[in-house]
Amino acid sequence: MNERAGKYIQQPLGYKAFIPNPLPPNPVIVFDDEMHSLLSKADRTLARLDGVTSVLPNPDLFIAMYVKKEALLSSQIEGTQASLEGVLEFEADMPLKEDINQVREVFNYIQAMNHGMDRLKTLPMSLRLIKEIHRTLMEGVRGADKTPGEFKRSQNWVGPKGAPLNQATYVPPPPDETNAAMGLLEKYLYEKDNTPPLVKIALIHSQFETIHPFLDGNGRIGRLLVTYYLFWQGILNKPLLYLSIYLKKHRQRYYDLLMNVRHEGAWEEWIKFFLSGVAETSEEATNTAREIIGLKERLFTLLCEKSVSSPHAVRLLNHMFTAPLISSNEIGRQLSISKETAIQLLNKFEHVGIIKEITGKKRYKKYLFKEYVDLISRGTEQ
Ligand SMILES: Nc1ncnc2c1ncn2[C@@H]1O[C@H](COP(=O)(O)OP(=O)(O)O)[C@@H](O)[C@H]1O
Ligand SMILES: [Mg+2]
Repeated sequence: MNERAGKYIQQPLGYKAFIPNPLPPNPVIVFDDEMHSLLSKADRTLARLDGVTSVLPNPDLFIAMYVKKEALLSSQIEGTQASLEGVLEFEADMPLKEDINQVREVFNYIQAMNHGMDRLKTLPMSLRLIKEIHRTLMEGVRGADKTPGEFKRSQNWVGPKGAPLNQATYVPPPPDETNAAMGLLEKYLYEKDNTPPLVKIALIHSQFETIHPFLDGNGRIGRLLVTYYLFWQGILNKPLLYLSIYLKKHRQRYYDLLMNVRHEGAWEEWIKFFLSGVAETSEEATNTAREIIGLKERLFTLLCEKSVSSPHAVRLLNHMFTAPLISSNEIGRQLSISKETAIQLLNKFEHVGIIKEITGKKRYKKYLFKEYVDLISRGTEQ
């Protein structure tokens, strides 16, 4: 045990709980060659991602889909079982093949992310905002009984599912220490020092997980915090950092490194892992953005070749990149065309193989733009 990050303190009820030292770490973070190189790579790849998305035909729609993906992956890390198709079905008010409660968790995450980003346009980051987001996240889902929007009022712990406190892997600060620790973390959010923002948010995420201020939802809120912070600081123009795919892939290492920060003061190792994740996920997202541009061009050419390239057809193609699960009613409404025209158009799209009817019904048909959904879904397989 090294006390650089904090120490275990005996509690009146007989167990020990970890009380973190406030940020920044002391002794200060060591920037060796590897750290510098990881940091510059993370900065570079993130800037490239910001760049490529700005040349997308419609960056907001790419981002809207990616928010769904991030929501799904971040929830999956905590055991939520849902798919992107399920989320789209839920949003389209369709009967679900999956457990509605789990899909709703992902839906809440999307709402929470959008809500927070919206608030951050006019409000600074604050504990109040974090609590507000928590409320959105936990409303009406698993954990809704666990004081949504409020910090813990009883001791929590991390460990195997259902294990009692004395078998916990990690015991975070008790409730009466939580406000103080969170207050210091809030103060650190505002502190203007020379720490690079990506390093700073790595520290903040770890510290947040260490404090574990809520009874549930700490993993998800802690990951939302990463996006919020970088947006708030002007590092990202859009919610474009999707670390969850990386954290899901390396989940055990993610947990182990957080533990090593607490017990060994191993901040540098955690930061390096985090920065590698930023670079890897930014590169992946850049490639996906390029593939989306490619897919769109290919389908546009296909429409021309098959002589389906009316202005309506082009608008439908564009629209499907925002809403890849569609019905004739919605298309009629969205494109301001009659239902009959919409049906004809959808039939043509199905005929050339762009979309596929998925309900098998004669009425209230729904069509899926599967190639696109598959592209976005990559990495969300259970
Ligand atoms: N063994 C562990 N060591 C360190 N951190 C852990 C460990 N297990 C879980 N965590 C952290 O706690 C989070 C889960 O906490 P929890 O409050 O249940 O969040 P959620 O409700 O979003 O699942 C994980 O995502 C991770 O960040
Ligand atoms: Mg949980």
